[in-house]
Amino acid sequence: MPKARTQPQQPVPEQPDRREFLRVVVHGGVLLGATAVGGVAVWQQSGGESIVQAVLPLAAMASLSKLERGAPARFEVTLARRDGWRVVNRSRRVYVTRVAGGETPESFAAFSAICPHAGCEVELAGKQYVCPCHQAKFDEAGAVTAGPAPRGLDPLVLTVQDRDGQPWLHVAWQDYVIGTEERTARTT
Ligand code: FES
Repeated sequence: MPKARTQPQQPVPEQPDRREFLRVVVHGGVLLGATAVGGVAVWQQSGGESIVQAVLPLAAMASLSKLERGAPARFEVTLARRDGWRVVNRSRRVYVTRVAGGETPESFAAFSAICPHAGCEVELAGKQYVCPCHQAKFDEAGAVTAGPAPRGLDPLVLTVQDRDGQPWLHVAWQDYVIGTEERTARTT
C-alpha cells in the first residue's frame, strides 16, 4: 500500500525568516463538457514577497484537441505559500475556452474566475459566467453583461512550453486589483 504524502514539517534552516514558495497543483480541465483534459502536476519554485504571478502548466496540448468551442474547461490551481514550517494553500480557478482552431496559444482564451467586483469566484452557467455573490454576469468573451462588476473578467496569458518532452499549455497566473474599472496587475 503506497505511503501517504506528507507536507514538509521542518523549518528551512538556511532561511530562518519568513520564506515563501510556490507549489502548483494542476488538476486537468474538468466538469465542463464531456472531455477531461490534462493531468496532475506538482512542482515548486522560489517565491518573492507575495504570490501574485506565476506561470503554471495546465494541460498537454494533445489533450486540448478535444476541447470544443462553447465548452470551456475549468482548471483548479493551488498556490501554496510556506511560512517557516506552515504551508498555506490558496486555490484559484482558471477557465480556458477555445476561440479558434488549431493547437496554438491563440487557439484558446483563459480567464481568471475571480470576479473583479469583490473577488468571489464566478461559475459557468450555460454560455455565460455568473458570480454567486452579487449576480454579476459575463459573456463568453468575459465582458460584463449585468450586475455590479466594474470590468470584465481578467484575461490570462497563455503560452505553450515544453514539459517532460511534450508541448503543454501554460497559463501566466496574475492577481489583479479588484473593485476598479481599470485593470491593474497586482505586484504585491
Ligand atoms: Fe462578483 Fe460582487 S463579487 S458580483
